[in-house]
Amino acid sequence: MRSLVSHLRPIAARFTPGRAVVVAVLSGPIVGALLAFGTVAAEETKEANVVTIDNFTFTPPEFTVAVGTTVKWINHDDIPHNVINKDKAFRSKALDTDDSYSFTFASAGTYDYFCGLHPHMQGKIVVK
Ligand code: CO
Repeated sequence: MRSLVSHLRPIAARFTPGRAVVVAVLSGPIVGALLAFGTVAAEETKEANVVTIDNFTFTPPEFTVAVGTTVKWINHDDIPHNVINKDKAFRSKALDTDDSYSFTFASAGTYDYFCGLHPHMQGKIVVK
């Protein structure tokens, strides 16, 4: 991060109205690099193995994990949802806003699940 910022300073120092186009062209890739860096940093701080529920949608809809992984579902909607495996391996209670449910997958397999309150909401955990 520091090296990117230090590259920005000389460009800012050279900035004059006549050079605005040159600066804009030069700073495009740098801004892009900064944005990319920010995205990577955000990914690193994001909690691992989480399925979010937003706008009646499980994200990611299909998630592959290793045997022994604990997956956590978090409801970000302002209405309740739950998480029910079609083969009855797991079933959460109704999750209110920001409530979460965790399940540890001890066996390999494909686990299709849905929201019992809105059965069109569907997702899948693949355990390998
Ligand atoms: Co639902």
